[in-house]
Amino acid sequence: MKFFIDTADVGEIREATALGVLDGVTTNPSLIAKTRRPFREVLEEILDLVDGPVSAEVTAVDFEGMIGEAKELSSLHENIVIKIPIISEGLKAISWCTNEGIKTNVTLCFNPMQALMAAKAGASYISPFVGRLDDISQDGMELITQIRQIYDNYGFDTEILVASIRSPMHVVQSALIGADVATIPFKVIDSLLKHPLTTRGLEQFLKDWEQVPSQ
Ligand code: E4P
Repeated sequence: MKFFIDTADVGEIREATALGVLDGVTTNPSLIAKTRRPFREVLEEILDLVDGPVSAEVTAVDFEGMIGEAKELSSLHENIVIKIPIISEGLKAISWCTNEGIKTNVTLCFNPMQALMAAKAGASYISPFVGRLDDISQDGMELITQIRQIYDNYGFDTEILVASIRSPMHVVQSALIGADVATIPFKVIDSLLKHPLTTRGLEQFLKDWEQVPSQ
C-alpha cells in the first residue's frame, strides 16, 4: 500500500519525506488555506520536495472552469494529479481529463456509486472520506470494502486512495482490505511506529547495555 501525506505544510512534508516511505501528497483548499500562503508557491515547493503524485484541487464547480484549472495545474509538473469533486460537472471534467491523459483524484466520495461513476469516467484515484463518515456514525471502512469489491468485480484500475484518515487503525484496516493508497495526516504518520512495548524494550536494552564491561 502506498503512503501519501495529507497536508500542505511543507515542514511536515519534509519530515515525512526523511522517513523514506512517502509516495505522494494530497492537498485540498482547506489545507492550502491553513498555510496562509499562495497556492502556486506552496505547490511548487511540494513538487520540489516529493518525487511522486501531488494532488491539487480545482475550485471551480462548472465544467469549463474545472478543465481550465486542470490544464493550468497539469502544465506545472508531470507529477500533478487534478483533484475534482464527484458532482456531475466534475464527472464531465474527469472524463475530459482522462481523454487528455491528465491524471485525476476524485474527491468527496461518500458512497460506492460515486466510486463506480468515477471509475467509469477513468479516474486515476478515488478518495473515499472514511473519517467524515465515522463522524456521522456511518462505517467509513465499510465503504472501502465495498469499493474494493466493485473495482475487483469489473477490473477497474482506478486506485482506492483512503482519505480523511483519523487514526492508525484506519491505516491498518486500509491495508487489510487492500486499498491502494492511504493519505495520512502527519500526526497519524508520526504515531504509526509508536508502541509502549517498543519504548520500554528499548529503554531496557540500553540500560542493560551499560552493564556490559568494556574491553
Ligand atoms: C482528502 O484528500 C482530503 O484532503 C482529506 O483526507 C480530508 O480529511 P479531513 O476529513 O480530515 O478534512
